[in-house]
Amino acid sequence: MGRLPFIAGNWKMNKTVREAVDLVRELKAAISGVKGVEVAVAPPFTALYAVHEELEGSPICLAAQNLFWEEKGAFTGEVSPVMLKEVGCLYIIIGHSERRQFFGETDETVNRRIKAALAQSLKVIFCIGETLKEREEGKTFSVMERQMEGGLKGLGDQEMRNIVIAYEPVWAIGTGKTATPEQAEEAHRFIRGKLERIYSREVSEGIRIQYGGSVTPENVKGLMNQPNIDGALVGGASLKAESFSKIVRFKEL
Ligand code: 13P
Repeated sequence: MGRLPFIAGNWKMNKTVREAVDLVRELKAAISGVKGVEVAVAPPFTALYAVHEELEGSPICLAAQNLFWEEKGAFTGEVSPVMLKEVGCLYIIIGHSERRQFFGETDETVNRRIKAALAQSLKVIFCIGETLKEREEGKTFSVMERQMEGGLKGLGDQEMRNIVIAYEPVWAIGTGKTATPEQAEEAHRFIRGKLERIYSREVSEGIRIQYGGSVTPENVKGLMNQPNIDGALVGGASLKAESFSKIVRFKEL
């Protein structure tokens, strides 16, 4: 059985509540009737509830960009899985390279967040990827291997059904330097092989692996044509309905 393509927009720290609602309203119209692709948007926390209301009755899923693993308590500034479920989130992006780079996220904290999300029946978009330095030093695969082993530690076959992996080479994020379809496919093939070694062929064949890093309407088709690329995690180009809807409609390009 084929894997359903999955296109998600990570808005990062962009959009006020009003701008967010306007964007999803436009997006709903721009992608209405599109079949055979799952779509999600990840607004900042402050806009989640309003976007959820605007998405009522729409097939577009809501995602958050992070969560904390505790359920509640004295954790100033944090947001719990239960709170995110309450405002309508289905997916949570965990382990994004910006969180690893700027906010001290480690493989261990990524693992704790993933487990907390799954425990509340939230689905996870688990991000991995190497820096330019690591690629140049020939460490691309060993870095991904470490991130996967650490991030997925203790998860069983059943839990893996609710995981999507996003391969985001750090050097391609926000730089306009997309990985070539061949470079991305090589990494995705490695990830799938690793999943097969940790779990089983069945698990590895079922998991969707998104590519992220300067995805645009111009390059999405070449990436999506690769056998192990099952979707895209889009940053900059997800901030406008016009470009994001073209990416969602990649089959028509
Ligand atoms: P860009 O598409 O802006 O390169 O961002 C990619 C990304 O980090 C998505 O999570």
